[in-house]
Amino acid sequence: MQLQLQSKMEMKAWPSWPRRLNPNSLIVASPCASPQGNPNSIRPGRLLVLGTGFVGRHVAQRLLRDHPGWHVAGTCTSPAKQEQLRSLGIEAHLFQLHEEQEQHLEALEPLLRDATHLLISIPPATGLNLHQHLHLFLNHANANLNLQWLSYLSSTSVYGDCRGAWVDEHYPVNPRTQSAISRYEAEKGWTDFGLHLGLSTFIFRLGGIYGPGRSALDTLLKRKDLSENQKRRDSRDFYYTARVHVADISQTILSSIEKPHLGKIYNVVDDDPAPRAEVFAYARDLISRRYPEMTDNLNHLKLGDAQMIIGEKRVSNLRMKNELGVQLIYPSYKSGLQSILDSWSS
Ligand SMILES: NC(=O)c1ccc[n+]([C@@H]2O[C@H](COP(=O)([O-])OP(=O)(O)OC[C@H]3O[C@@H](n4cnc5c(N)ncnc54)[C@H](OP(=O)(O)O)[C@@H]3O)[C@@H](O)[C@H]2O)c1
Repeated sequence: MQLQLQSKMEMKAWPSWPRRLNPNSLIVASPCASPQGNPNSIRPGRLLVLGTGFVGRHVAQRLLRDHPGWHVAGTCTSPAKQEQLRSLGIEAHLFQLHEEQEQHLEALEPLLRDATHLLISIPPATGLNLHQHLHLFLNHANANLNLQWLSYLSSTSVYGDCRGAWVDEHYPVNPRTQSAISRYEAEKGWTDFGLHLGLSTFIFRLGGIYGPGRSALDTLLKRKDLSENQKRRDSRDFYYTARVHVADISQTILSSIEKPHLGKIYNVVDDDPAPRAEVFAYARDLISRRYPEMTDNLNHLKLGDAQMIIGEKRVSNLRMKNELGVQLIYPSYKSGLQSILDSWSS
C-alpha cells in the first residue's frame, strides 16, 4: 500500500547522503522560530492528556513545573497509575478504550468541556477509533468545547521501510504493519476532528522514545537472563532507525502550544539516525566503562559493517527546528544515554 499524505517530494535516497552529512543539522532561520523560547510565554490553560503514560506524564510535569497557572488532567487505565499521577499534581481519571464506547466516553465529556488543550497519547487499536467515537459522541451530546490546541502523538512507522532514504514530512507514507496503518488512520481522523472544531491539529511523528527508565541501558541490564535464542540479533537491528529523548518530545510539544496556528505534521526525532545494534553497542560500552564488574552480565552485540545499513529510514527533523524553534537537548543517542547513566550515579 502506498499512501500519499501530502505533495510528493523527491528525496535523496541512500547512499546519496553520507552518514555524517546529516540534513537535520542544517538549521535555517525562520521568521516563526523563537529558538530560545520564553519559558513564561505560555498563557495558563487546562491540558487534558488522554493516555498519561511515559510521554504524557513528562509533558504534564514540565508544564506544571515551568508554567505556573496550568491545570493538567489525564487518563490512565489502572488505579495504581492513577495514584502515581495524582501524587504528581495531575487530576487523574481512569479511562479504558474498549468495545462499549458510548458508555465510557460519557466519562470524558466533563473533562473535554473543561479542557483548552488536548493531547492524545493513547495508541490506536484495530477497531477502536477514538476520534470517530468522540466525533459522534460530541455531536450527539451537542457539546461545546473550548479547545484551542489539539495534538496527536503518532509514529515515524507510518513511513514504512524507505531503504535508508532521508524522509521529511512530504515523503509519501507507506504503513506496512497493522499498527502503522491504524496510526495513519488516526492521524487523518484527528486532523478531521480538529478541522471540525476549527483547529489545526499537531501530528507529532515520534521516533523510538527513550529516556530515564526506558533506554538501551535499561534494556541491557534487564536482558542479562535472556536465552541464546533470544539474544540472536535480527538483521533489522542494522537498519537506520529514528529515536528521540522524552525531554525533547516535551519541549517540542510545549513549543507548539506557544504557536497553535502552526498545527500540522512534524517529525520529532534527534539528529542521529543510527542502527539499533550501534546504539546497543554504545550503551554496553558506557556501562562497561562505568561499571566494569557488570560487563560479563551484559549482552554482546556485533556491529554490522556499513554495507548492511540499507533498510528503514533516516528521518529529518528540520521542520521541527525551523518552525517550532526546537533546539535539541539530546541531538544524539550518545548524549542522551550519557545523561541517563550520569543520573544513575547521582
Ligand atoms: N514507544 C515508542 O518508541 C513510540 C514511538 C512512536 C510513537 N509512540 C506512541 O506515542 C504515544 C506516547 O508513547 P508513550 O511511550 O508515552 O506510551 P505509553 O507509555 O505506553 O502510554 C500510553 C498511554 O495510553 C494508555 N492506554 C493504552 N491503551 C489504552 C486503552 N486501550 N484505553 C485507554 N488508555 C490506554 C496507557 O494507560 P496506562 O498508563 O494505564 O498504561 C498510557 O497512559 C503512544 O501512543 C505510543 O504508542 C511510541
